Amino acid sequence: MTSERASSRDLLTELEPVVEENLNRHLATAKEWFPHEYVPWTEGTDFDGPLGGEAWAPEQSRLSEVARTSLVVNLLTEDNLPSYHHEIATMFGRDGAWGTWVHRWTAEEGRHGIAIRDYLLATRAVDPVALERARMTHMETGFTNAYSDQSSLHGIAYVSFQELATRVAHRNTGRISGDPVCEQLLARVAADENLHMIFYRNLLAGAFEVSPDAAMRAVCDVVTTFQMPGHTIENFTRKSVQIAMAGIYDLRIHHDEVVTPVLRNIRALETTGLSAEGEKARDELVAFLTELDKQASRFVERRERIDAAKAQRG
Ligand SMILES: [Fe+2]
Ligand SMILES: [Fe+2]
Repeated sequence: MTSERASSRDLLTELEPVVEENLNRHLATAKEWFPHEYVPWTEGTDFDGPLGGEAWAPEQSRLSEVARTSLVVNLLTEDNLPSYHHEIATMFGRDGAWGTWVHRWTAEEGRHGIAIRDYLLATRAVDPVALERARMTHMETGFTNAYSDQSSLHGIAYVSFQELATRVAHRNTGRISGDPVCEQLLARVAADENLHMIFYRNLLAGAFEVSPDAAMRAVCDVVTTFQMPGHTIENFTRKSVQIAMAGIYDLRIHHDEVVTPVLRNIRALETTGLSAEGEKARDELVAFLTELDKQASRFVERRERIDAAKAQRG
């Protein structure tokens, strides 16, 4: 075991009481819910194939193109769960409170994919053949934790931001869907993602107490290189531009509603007692956030110009 890995293990052991406390809090807070209750089954009909029903056609969908794109991205992201489970179990281990959490989290995430897929199929919102092929391609690519050769703190920092990013993406997708049934379902899923974020964010806060320099470095590395968990989905760049243009998830949202609230909640930027290395990481982080904020403003201005030009063309 390298010394980095060894200290990473030590840190996980030190954080175990925080995990246990937050696992218990999570189990007491999370409400049981049932995907089938959120799906309008009466709208469902057989498809073509062995059952000889009607093939899917675009006009059957009541959702806009961007709502469909975003739902598919969100669902494919949820679908890649086996890879996430593998990465998280590798990073955190399967013993004690860590193991209990990893399995519980996986089971909750599994519910999200089930619920969203059932909704999409029952309402004929998306092409089921394209969806299944996209799932195969995406899962065959798998997911690799970008920080696997760094500290487990990088992993904790990543999931803190990622869970909140996912929450916002689900919630805003529901909001722009124009379908109250879809919005209700995605709001329910988003509530789960919020609890996941709180779990990881509390661990990150614990990490800042145990090892402030390493925590600052991890947060800096993760924020400056952050990618959505679904970034390996086919044509992700094109899809994410569509999603950003619709205001579902863009740089402004990423800065204001994901990165900033996590950092503010745990008072990361106000950490005291940092060494020179820790201070360096904080400076890098602050400089990056300033630039991100500027880029976000530029993006919003550009989008407003494009929208105005479109409105003028009628
Ligand atoms: Fe999820
Ligand atoms: Fe989650």
